[in-house]
Amino acid sequence: MTTILVTGGAGFIGANFVRFLLANRPDCRVINADVLTYSGNLENLTSIESDPRYRFVKADICDAAAMEPLVEEADAVVHMAAESHVDRSILDSEPFIRTNVLGTQVMLDVVRKAPGKPRRFLYVSTDEVYGSLPLEDKSLLFTEETPITANSPYAASKASGDLLVGAYHHTFGMDTVTTRCSNNFGPYQFPEKVIPLFVANLIEGKKVPLYGDGLNVRDWLHVDDHCEAILTVLEKGTAGEVYNVGGNNERSNIELTHSILGLMGFGEEMIEPVKDRLGHDRRYAIDATKIARELGWHPTRSAWPGALAETVRWYQDNTEWWQRVRTGAYRDYYEQQYGRAASA
Ligand SMILES: NC(=O)c1ccc[n+]([C@@H]2O[C@H](COP(=O)([O-])OP(=O)(O)OC[C@H]3O[C@@H](n4cnc5c(N)ncnc54)[C@H](O)[C@@H]3O)[C@@H](O)[C@H]2O)c1
Repeated sequence: MTTILVTGGAGFIGANFVRFLLANRPDCRVINADVLTYSGNLENLTSIESDPRYRFVKADICDAAAMEPLVEEADAVVHMAAESHVDRSILDSEPFIRTNVLGTQVMLDVVRKAPGKPRRFLYVSTDEVYGSLPLEDKSLLFTEETPITANSPYAASKASGDLLVGAYHHTFGMDTVTTRCSNNFGPYQFPEKVIPLFVANLIEGKKVPLYGDGLNVRDWLHVDDHCEAILTVLEKGTAGEVYNVGGNNERSNIELTHSILGLMGFGEEMIEPVKDRLGHDRRYAIDATKIARELGWHPTRSAWPGALAETVRWYQDNTEWWQRVRTGAYRDYYEQQYGRAASA
């Protein structure tokens, strides 16, 4: 049995990754360490919570003493706990620096100093560390050599973690690998992010807020493709290397909005233009040829519009899930499920 410690496994990508790992690697045990911030939701994991190969531990990545025994038990660490919402980082960057920078430094030091065999450390980074590309020249893409030019406090905090990972490999010879992925979509995404937000608003008869001129472009990747890429890099990536992960699926926000409206049978009248996000990056686009060439990974679940339609349908079919998030009821789940054990 191989034991993988996943940080942030109760979030959107984390929960999908934990399920992906258990489904695809029968010889794997998973420890999910998550402090359960507003975006950590154990209801994302009900389908596997009684799997004997899975264990949840409520713990903060900034707390070295809490992380040490978990790391010691693990053969490898997939570090994705983070503050993840750009808009929140504009309102208050402090939690972003704490978790994404200091938390990553704590995790790196705990893994570096853990007794016994060296453990691989995979850092889930983001394409946002590369800054922004112009809309005009579609031939320009982010490669792993593109300089780090983070533009939002979120991106700057992720870039700081990313640079620390590189530094720990260079300085201490740590076995690190990094993935830099584009925008994810799929089930269990916190409903303040654009796709679940729009679907939930439309179901509730509310308009969808569209930033600025709506021309900002993102490269959309299905979360299961991202999970597969993380697992591929964890198992086959070269120590010290960075791998871009993208869907080759650029869409402007207005195009995405029209697609969701069309899939749900609504028209333009449901769009509410709102003031643009401060410092809003214009375009992200990933060149993922390195991971394809060296590790054989290709996205297979992100094809548009089918994959988008499937995701929209998931939120339509799972209204209770996002309604419990919107009302805050999902927070009771930890107490019900783990409260007695946790306080024993
Ligand atoms: N969502 C995307 O499109 C995307 C794209 C590329 C990279 N990423 C990266 O992937 C990772 C996961 O993103 P997500 O969208 O699933 O985010 P999310 O906000 O849904 O989940 C983050 C998880 O981390 C946990 N967490 C936060 N602070 C913690 C702390 N101090 N200790 C322990 N746990 C803590 C939260 O409780 C939550 O469960 C992040 O590192 C993010 O930067 C996300």
